Amino acid sequence: MGYDLLKGKKGIIFGALDENSIAWKTAERVHEEGGTFVLTNAPIAMRMGQINELAKKTKSEIIPADATSEEDLANLVTKSMEILGGKLDFVLHSIGMSVNVRKGRLYTDEKYDFTTKGWDVSALSFHKVMQSLYKADAMNQWGSIVALTYMAAQRTFPDYNDMADNKAYLESVARSFGYFFGKEKKVRVNTISQSPTPTTAGQGVKGFDGFISYAEKMSPLGNATALDCANYTISLFSDLTKKVTMQNLFHDGGFSNTGVSQEVIERFSD
Ligand SMILES: NC(=O)c1ccc[n+]([C@@H]2O[C@H](COP(=O)([O-])OP(=O)(O)OC[C@H]3O[C@@H](n4cnc5c(N)ncnc54)[C@H](O)[C@@H]3O)[C@@H](O)[C@H]2O)c1
Repeated sequence: MGYDLLKGKKGIIFGALDENSIAWKTAERVHEEGGTFVLTNAPIAMRMGQINELAKKTKSEIIPADATSEEDLANLVTKSMEILGGKLDFVLHSIGMSVNVRKGRLYTDEKYDFTTKGWDVSALSFHKVMQSLYKADAMNQWGSIVALTYMAAQRTFPDYNDMADNKAYLESVARSFGYFFGKEKKVRVNTISQSPTPTTAGQGVKGFDGFISYAEKMSPLGNATALDCANYTISLFSDLTKKVTMQNLFHDGGFSNTGVSQEVIERFSD
């Protein structure tokens, strides 16, 4: 299925770890739609080697970059423009990691060094990515920058832990940077608030299996898959959404606006 929606467009895709990753599916779909891109991930994630398969399949080059390192990001932006032969039209930030979650620390027992590291990786990195692009004047007019987020930024999901705070910050950065990128470069910046999705990052959250089934039963359209998310992202990279910016866009089968569903009521009825 391809509509040539991204024909001639160039970009950078962060965060494809394995074939379950939302960024992996997005890279496959961007390729099908005629876009060309550089793949990037943290040097440590490269060691697992799976990204090479994706690069081969999508005829892309890989440039390692730690998204918390300004130096790595500056290098990534310069080299990507060299490889792709010009300025960029789209960038996907699909990065998240909480050290507190990984180490099993509860929200009420955060180790703040862990909190700071998780915030840098999951939230501030989005500012760093955009500042690198902005300073290098790397985006074409009407380009599009997308980051992925989760509804725990607005409502409490206890096991989402400090990632909830990181996502709130990330969404705020999208609005704040979106203003400057819009005014000065005619570039749009949005976040997609995605359903729970079975990926490495998703499954790191405690109680994920129960939660994903609950979300499925609460959402009138069912949970959005990683492929659904990739398709939505394509629409935001395309010229069909030029005036959408500074938005947090829920992509969750209706979960965020559902109070309760019939299936959930039945589960609790005697
Ligand atoms: N899976 C879900 O349930 C879900 C729901 C809503 C939003 N999201 C968001 O989607 C995005 C992608 O996650 P995913 O679910 O595809 O999981 P994933 O584990 O496949 O992807 C997370 C990526 O972040 C990368 N990363 C970690 N530290 C990095 C660093 N320092 N520099 C560069 N990259 C780094 C990892 O290598 C990995 O590729 C994240 O922002 C996540 O929070 C996920």
